[in-house]
Amino acid sequence: MERMRTIIRRIDRKKLQNKAAIQAIEKAGGILKAGGLVAFPTETVYGLGADALNEDAARKIYEAKGRPSDNPLIIHIANIRSLRKVAEVIPEEAKKIAKKYWPGPLTMIFEKTDIVPYGTTGGLETVAVRMPSDPVALEVIRAGGGFIAAPSANTSGRPSPTCAAHVEADLRRRIDMIIDGGQVEIGVESTILDMTMTPPMILRPGAITQEMLEEVIGEVAVDRSTISADSRESPRAPGMKYRHYAPRADLSVVEGPMELAIEAINRMAAGRIAEGYKVGIIATDETAGRYRSGIIKSIGPRADEMAIASHLYGILREFDDEGADYIFSESFSTCGIGGAVMNRLLKAASHHIIDV
Ligand code: TXA
Ligand code: MG
Repeated sequence: MERMRTIIRRIDRKKLQNKAAIQAIEKAGGILKAGGLVAFPTETVYGLGADALNEDAARKIYEAKGRPSDNPLIIHIANIRSLRKVAEVIPEEAKKIAKKYWPGPLTMIFEKTDIVPYGTTGGLETVAVRMPSDPVALEVIRAGGGFIAAPSANTSGRPSPTCAAHVEADLRRRIDMIIDGGQVEIGVESTILDMTMTPPMILRPGAITQEMLEEVIGEVAVDRSTISADSRESPRAPGMKYRHYAPRADLSVVEGPMELAIEAINRMAAGRIAEGYKVGIIATDETAGRYRSGIIKSIGPRADEMAIASHLYGILREFDDEGADYIFSESFSTCGIGGAVMNRLLKAASHHIIDV
């Protein structure tokens, strides 16, 4: 593919009125309107933006990421009025959910209107829409014309980027611009809720949980493949079927009582190291001191699901950079956003779980 110069601009999300910030957003808007690609921060992960209503622009996203073309993109909007332009039917429940959780880490799926090209939806009659809360994201969407298709800004198959350096590592010289807004807030991708089904169904867990959605609209279903370790279950979000979020190393997740898990990880790590391999261990603040060999990284305090979510992808990338051959991870709480963390961790491990 064609190599290009990638413009990189740093923006302080608390100082969007600065001249430099205004200029950077304007530049990004111009590139997007001309059919180019701009990576930008959202509250979940960095997105790789293109004009969602321009089929050629959307196609460039697939090329830059190496993404299979049947994997549909999410259209990002900056205000609720924009939803009518891309969604043919907006159920009452969707209005209630939007009122409560937009802007925020939630994507909803609707029947698409005619202006949405099949190049954006991967050939589907439905369209995924999200209004992010990150102020930089909102400015970029507005500047780019209001409808920005944005998958996570990683090479297909790698962990999603939670800072601009991750985007640079994957996409430098393949895209027109990167807006560096620092570290993202949440660290795992948005919840995806399919509003074309009754009851609505969660296709991908995220920071907005089933309980939070049920508080607003009553019953919400969950796609079994997001919780089941049985990889034969075929996911309804096309992107969830690919080996996603994956580090280069062979990752195993160890489940069971803490003491037994630590003992098992110590034993397996020592075994692999004796064979000459480089081993990484994903521990927590409480347990990190208990490991005897390997590269040990704490993902955060066990009770802090938010911290764990925000560190997950960065740690997987660090182990890649350090050349780990095997990674052994503890398993974590599934409370709140913990459900999304374990969904991504188990997918990254291709459901390679060791029960102790
Ligand atoms: O948090 C996020 O959602 C991030 C940020 C950048 O906004 N974006 C993101 O996009 O995670 P991506 O492309 O990496 O994941 C989109 C997921 C894929 O699994 C895709 O298959 C699913 O959404 N999806 C998109 N449109 C769909 C549709 N019409 N029906 C079912 N699944 C859909
Ligand atoms: Mg992705």
